[in-house]
Amino acid sequence: MGLFSKPIKSLDDLFLHTLKDIYYAENQIVKSLPAMIEKATDPTLKSAFQTHLSETKGQVTRLERVFQMLGEEPKGVTCAAIDGILDEAKEVMSDIDDKMVLDAGMISGAQAVEHYEITRYGTLVAFARRLGREDCAKIFEETLAEEKETDRKLTAIAQGQVNRKAA
Ligand SMILES: [Fe+2]
Ligand SMILES: [Fe+2]
Repeated sequence: MGLFSKPIKSLDDLFLHTLKDIYYAENQIVKSLPAMIEKATDPTLKSAFQTHLSETKGQVTRLERVFQMLGEEPKGVTCAAIDGILDEAKEVMSDIDDKMVLDAGMISGAQAVEHYEITRYGTLVAFARRLGREDCAKIFEETLAEEKETDRKLTAIAQGQVNRKAA
């Protein structure tokens, strides 16, 4: 990785880079969810965040399993995208007093996180398959299903009660 060579040379390298990126992201999400759980007022929202925190911890473990399957040390690379999404969510949270508006704001921030994760896991599934790692693709698909379900649940909570109470 000197002056004359770039670190990502192949799809294998890009696959590993993307894995490190999402590993960093999942760990940042684990750190961010407790404050959202604490601040949520709607009980369905609170419990959805709680469920997703424990799912996210399991997703971190899954990623560690993939690193192991690839013979690599679990390691993250700073993901500017997730840092930006989480910073923005925190900023919005600190700017809201009304509890119901805060719930709506947290759902909005959390869905941005879920959509980010959905793009990353979608890419990882495709890369893994292309590289002949169906074993890894299967693991990413389990997490992808959880992210999509979380996104769906958050939409239902927002449209079911939170946005109405916030309005
Ligand atoms: Fe996740
Ligand atoms: Fe997620």
